[in-house]
Amino acid sequence: MNKKFLAGAALLGALTLVAAGCSSSNGTGGNGEEGGDELITVGFAQTGSESGWRSANTESMKEAFSKENGFDLKFNAADNKQEAQIAAVRSFINQGVDAIVIAPITVDGWDDVLTEAKDAGIPVILEDRTVSASEDLYASWVGLDFEQEGKTAGEWAVENADGSNLVILEGTTGSSAALDRATGFGAAIEGSDITTLDSQTGDFTRDGGKKVMEGFLQKYGDDINLLFAHNDDMGLGALDAIKAAGLTPGKDITIVTIDAVKDGMTALANGEFNFIVECNPLLGEKAADLVKAVLAGEDVEKKTIVPDQSFTQEQAAEVLDSRPY
Ligand code: AHR
Repeated sequence: MNKKFLAGAALLGALTLVAAGCSSSNGTGGNGEEGGDELITVGFAQTGSESGWRSANTESMKEAFSKENGFDLKFNAADNKQEAQIAAVRSFINQGVDAIVIAPITVDGWDDVLTEAKDAGIPVILEDRTVSASEDLYASWVGLDFEQEGKTAGEWAVENADGSNLVILEGTTGSSAALDRATGFGAAIEGSDITTLDSQTGDFTRDGGKKVMEGFLQKYGDDINLLFAHNDDMGLGALDAIKAAGLTPGKDITIVTIDAVKDGMTALANGEFNFIVECNPLLGEKAADLVKAVLAGEDVEKKTIVPDQSFTQEQAAEVLDSRPY
């Protein structure tokens, strides 16, 4: 069977399910195997497993795209390598899946494979990060306002640590999360008395954060008194380097991060971090709803932004036990 036919058949199947009133947006309805209906086959190309945030995001996606919710999920994690992620998307196209969901590692480089998916009649939904490719090449995107996250972090830094010497641990080079957070933070500290000593990528990992922070400490020693890490995990890695250098995190060095995962919030509640801007990883349910709506031929929003909060040390201590991830 050719791919266009498969996609068309899948669309028909999905339309039938929706027409039968079986579509579920909260995971409690049933168009799964038990009722004898066909499952919607979805290929999900995840970035990798670089951080606590990523684990929570993967879990949310797997939960939402479950058999009980009417999906047959084909999952691939690309170990943070864009070539591997593109290869996974190509493989989903070749398998003739009904829809593809991508958490794009980097912004650029998606035009060709997205065009191939479009030519095969397979709709693509983006989750988490954005791409620079034309909006015509994907059906919808659900994610976070990374620029605002960076701005919120920068505004807190100006209010609470103006005059500091800053180092920055950047996320994966070329990712929208790193690019937009850098833009937002940079705009917020512009005109302040914060001096940026250095800024390097730690690739959103604990190991990366630790290694880069060790290098910063060797180079600048205790001149550093402010750290902005693009995610909790790099900040957590940096804690080891800071302590090994005989400094007290949260006191000698003010630490601002993004994500608000359990380990980050614990460090914040313990006084080792000073401020966290949340980045909500629970995008699965919305992504699954979008896939069903697109396959049913419904009009969907091109962009859906999930709101984030931010936390001081006191607020982290209050909510720590009730955090879902
Ligand atoms: O794209 C979201 C970012 O990716 C998260 O902030 C980071 O932890 C993850 O790896």
